[in-house]
Amino acid sequence: MITIDIDKNTCIKCGKCVKVCPVYILTQESPTSAIGLKNVHTCIACGHCVASCPPDSVIHSEFPEHKVHAVDKEKLPTPEQVFELCRTRRSNRAFLSSPVPTEYLKQIVDAAHLAPTASNEQELSFTLVTNPELLKQISEITIETFEATVKMANNPLIKPLLGLFSPEAKKGIPHLESVINRYRNGRDSILREAKAVLLIHTPSTSNFGKQDANLAYQNASLMAESLGVSQFYTGYVCISIGFDKKKKLAKLLNIEGKIHAGMALAMPAFKFPKYVDRQDIDLTIFS
Ligand SMILES: Cc1cc2nc3c(=O)[nH]c(=O)nc-3n(C[C@H](O)[C@H](O)[C@H](O)COP(=O)(O)O)c2cc1C
Repeated sequence: MITIDIDKNTCIKCGKCVKVCPVYILTQESPTSAIGLKNVHTCIACGHCVASCPPDSVIHSEFPEHKVHAVDKEKLPTPEQVFELCRTRRSNRAFLSSPVPTEYLKQIVDAAHLAPTASNEQELSFTLVTNPELLKQISEITIETFEATVKMANNPLIKPLLGLFSPEAKKGIPHLESVINRYRNGRDSILREAKAVLLIHTPSTSNFGKQDANLAYQNASLMAESLGVSQFYTGYVCISIGFDKKKKLAKLLNIEGKIHAGMALAMPAFKFPKYVDRQDIDLTIFS
């Protein structure tokens, strides 16, 4: 059970904790009055009250001293640096055959773990695969699932119905067929010979699992870029997970719940010396 206390001897009554609490647990009648507490059981343990308190007067059971750290402003990237990282991050698929150093993988997962989650649920789990045999099996399971899907879609009884009820799915079938053909002819466009795969999953009861996982993904991909590690989103793997009622991949990797996002990783054969512009931004502003 979460407990929160205010150290009245050190509290300067600045009210910052009151302003930042998303669930209005901390209260203050007037700017100079003491900080009060209500409905502590609704606390989502985001730690904002602790992190915003100048004299460390918020005593929170989830955040003992060793879990509270001063922000080193000197270490923060400038807006220009953030832009440059966003511009230069690419899904570089030209890989070296060497493995991704373990300490890099760890930093990438740690960055993913820092992403925000809905209601601060922090339900994400991560599965990191570097075992070459398992990597092969990830591609193989993906392709087998595509083969079963294509077979079903081409069934003479189902084909006309698919066109009628899901024209988009029907349009995707030739694409899946070309991915399958490439794979069966020796070219794996599922993992592209990546040396690691990071899967991000949640319990199936999670309300915002997909959103949480994709935000974590983007943290990880920016960290990968800054470490000089190549990554791409394993969209094919994720689509096939959606098709596969038998949950073969989850079973292979002992994953319970739902896999929402996946990242293939490897060291780049070379770095891009340039970046190109995106399409023109489609932005509407109401001011
Ligand atoms: C949801 C999603 C799924 C993707 N799936 C794949 C994939 O299965 N294989 C692949 O090589 N790249 C995949 N990508 C990478 C995109 O093709 C890539 O992000 C896009 O072409 C833009 O290039 P950039 O990432 O280098 O900026 C995926 C990206 C996203 C966002």
